[in-house]
Amino acid sequence: MNKIQDAPISRGNRILVRCDLDVPIKNGKIQEKYRLESSLETLNYIINKEAMPIIAGHIGKPDGKYVKELSTKYLKSYFEEELGSQNFQILENLRFDPREEENSMEYANEICKGIDMYVNESFATCHRKHTSIVSIPKILPHYAGFHLQQEIETLITVIENPEKPLVFVVGGVKLESKKPAVVKFLNIADCVLLGGKLAEDWKEDVPSNLILPMDNIDGKDIGPETVKEFNRIIEKSKTILWAGPMGMFEDPKYQNGTKSIAFQISKTTDNGSLSVIGGGDTISAVEKFGFLGKYSFTSTGGGAMLQFLSEGTLPGIEALE
Ligand code: 3PG
Repeated sequence: MNKIQDAPISRGNRILVRCDLDVPIKNGKIQEKYRLESSLETLNYIINKEAMPIIAGHIGKPDGKYVKELSTKYLKSYFEEELGSQNFQILENLRFDPREEENSMEYANEICKGIDMYVNESFATCHRKHTSIVSIPKILPHYAGFHLQQEIETLITVIENPEKPLVFVVGGVKLESKKPAVVKFLNIADCVLLGGKLAEDWKEDVPSNLILPMDNIDGKDIGPETVKEFNRIIEKSKTILWAGPMGMFEDPKYQNGTKSIAFQISKTTDNGSLSVIGGGDTISAVEKFGFLGKYSFTSTGGGAMLQFLSEGTLPGIEALE
């Protein structure tokens, strides 16, 4: 894979940087900035070479139409503050054009006009075969940004060479999309802990290393006995991977499961274990409870992380080979 540190960037180059811009925005205010922060090292590296980063990405699912609330204009002041107002440009939400999700070569050619090279700093979208992920690299010299490189290195360590015991904590909704990763980890991990709505949907045999909740609160959070058992297992683990909240943490009545697990993983990390957490909802939850930054690595990817863990690669990464 080509890396940004090997790119022949020279003064005045215009470099398209596909970033993870998909952050929650409410009344024009950014609610959680981790994904934006993860691109700053790459953007500053380009600026220090006296080149111009052209920031590109999507927010939400506008279905190919202009949706005011999902405009990248709400991100401008963040980048102005972090990078300096003269040092970057930002394109409008790429998904306002239906051709982004259609993986259109015509759209790719339009975007690439006047651009010298392409950097992918959007791990969270690398599982999508979209124009800005897989077609643009066919046109321009292409490189992986610093955070994308770290995502790949960290997740490969978890799959190929984890210190044992290895535990995979998985929650949230939509078991279907998470099942390939759960099945993979049932083969390689000492334990898989299933929380959130996922557990209810598990209809198959329960192997000895799959731990399902034994109690719950109104079906919206894991119960105290489950929290105790999950935390007991996490405490003894040397590598912990966590994707997806344990319940409806947005409601204070149902936040205890997610908060306790978040705390236990941070404590186990302090004691020397490797922890990797990922996904938009997980990041929002740990941010809310004050634990963001307390884990060994935070992946920007939700679906992308799970697909990478089960398949070992992603379309967006293959496009950089
Ligand atoms: C994410 O939030 O996981 C990424 O931005 C990808 O978004 P998508 O699921 O809308 O493609």
